[in-house]
Amino acid sequence: MNPAILESTGPASPASTRRPATNFTYLIEKEFSVDNLKPVDRPVGEPGPGEVLLGIRAASLNFRDYDILRGQYPAGHYAPPFIPVSDVAGEILALGAGVTGFRVGDRAMPNFWQVWDSGERPPAGAETLGGPLPGLLRQRALLPASGLVRIPDYLSFEQASTLPIAAVTAWNALIVQGGLKPGETVLVQGTGGVAIFALQIAKLAGARVIVTSSSDEKLERARSLGADAGINYRRHPEWSKQVAELTNGEGVEHVIEVGGANTMAESLDSVAVGGSVYVIGYLAGVEGGLSPLRVLRKKARVRGVLVGSRQSFVEMNRAFALARLQPAIDRVFSWEETKEAFHHMGSGRHFGKIVIRVD
Ligand SMILES: NC(=O)c1ccc[n+]([C@@H]2O[C@H](COP(=O)([O-])OP(=O)(O)OC[C@H]3O[C@@H](n4cnc5c(N)ncnc54)[C@H](OP(=O)(O)O)[C@@H]3O)[C@@H](O)[C@H]2O)c1
Repeated sequence: MNPAILESTGPASPASTRRPATNFTYLIEKEFSVDNLKPVDRPVGEPGPGEVLLGIRAASLNFRDYDILRGQYPAGHYAPPFIPVSDVAGEILALGAGVTGFRVGDRAMPNFWQVWDSGERPPAGAETLGGPLPGLLRQRALLPASGLVRIPDYLSFEQASTLPIAAVTAWNALIVQGGLKPGETVLVQGTGGVAIFALQIAKLAGARVIVTSSSDEKLERARSLGADAGINYRRHPEWSKQVAELTNGEGVEHVIEVGGANTMAESLDSVAVGGSVYVIGYLAGVEGGLSPLRVLRKKARVRGVLVGSRQSFVEMNRAFALARLQPAIDRVFSWEETKEAFHHMGSGRHFGKIVIRVD
C-alpha cells in the first residue's frame, strides 16, 4: 500500500462535533531517539473514498516501537520525518465515500498489517503501521476502513489499545498456528506484552503455563493471572532443566520464544518431542549459532510469527469478549508523559502493557 493513502485528502464528509481543533502528533523530525520525540500540530484532511477519520483515544507501546526510536530495530530502517506507534484505539469521527460496516461514533482499532485481511500470510506488498506506514501517536488519523476492527463493548479505549500487536501475536502463535489443546503445557518467556497475553490465552484454552522472568515479584504477579509455575531465568540460566523437572522430563508442547538468539537453545531443550517453538522476538539478541541437532532431536516445529490477519484479530476479540479477558496494563501515561512511557519500556520494569492516553 502506498503510505500516502494514509495522509490523502478526499471529498468532504459529515463533520463530527467531537472532532478536536488540533491534531497533535509525536514526530521524529531528524534523528531517531526517544528524547527527540516532538509534539507538533499537523493538519489532517477529510477521509477519501474507503477511508475513515479515527479520533485516537489511547495508544499502547510495543518493544518494536522502542527499538525503532532508539535506532536498533533489526527488521527495517525508517527515515525521518517519522511518526511512531501502531497500536491505538479510538472513535470514528467521519466516513469517506463508500465506507460500509462502520458509522460515525463506532469504536475501532486498526490491524497492524493494513491489507492482510485473512489467510495464512500477508499478501505481497502488505505493510505495517508505525513503520514503514506512518504511525499513530497522534490525535487523529485517516485510515482505510478495510483495516479496522471493532472494539469489543466490554473494553475501554485504553484496554483495547493493548490488543493489535501483542494479543494478536500470542493468539496466532498458540491458537491459529499452534492449535493449543486443553491439558497441554505452554512455556512463556518473560512478563512483557506478548508474554502476558500468551499466558492469559493459554489459560483460556485450558492449558498449563510455566512463566520465566528475571524477577520473583513478577513471577508472583504472573501466578495471580493463572500461571502454574515460574522460573527465574537469572537464577537459573539453564532453565530447561527446571522445565524438565516440572514436566516429568517430557518438556512442554508450546514455547513462546521472545528472547531470540540467546534463549533459542534453552527453548529447544525445553520443548517436548514433536512440540512447537514460536519464534516471535529477539530481546536477547539476533545473532548466534544453533546446532540443527537441537531441532532434529526434538522433532520440533519452529514457526515464525508475524502478528496476524484482520480476521484472526476479529476471532480473538470474540473469544476475549466471551471470557471478558482483562488486558494486563502496567501503567497508563498521559500524552505529556510520552517520553517517560518509552523510557519505562526501556527500563524493563513493566509487567504487561504500557499505555498512553490521547485526549
Ligand atoms: N514476530 C512478531 O509478530 C512480534 C510481535 C510482537 C512482539 N515481537 C517481539 O517480541 C519481543 C517482545 O515484545 P513485547 O512488546 O512483548 O516486549 P516487552 O513488553 O517490552 O517485554 C519485555 C519483557 O521480556 C522479558 N525478557 C527480556 N529479555 C529476556 C530474556 N533474555 N529471556 C526471557 N525474557 C526476557 C522481560 O521480562 P521479565 O522482566 O519478566 O524478565 C521483559 O520485561 C520483542 O523482541 C518484539 O520485537 C514480535
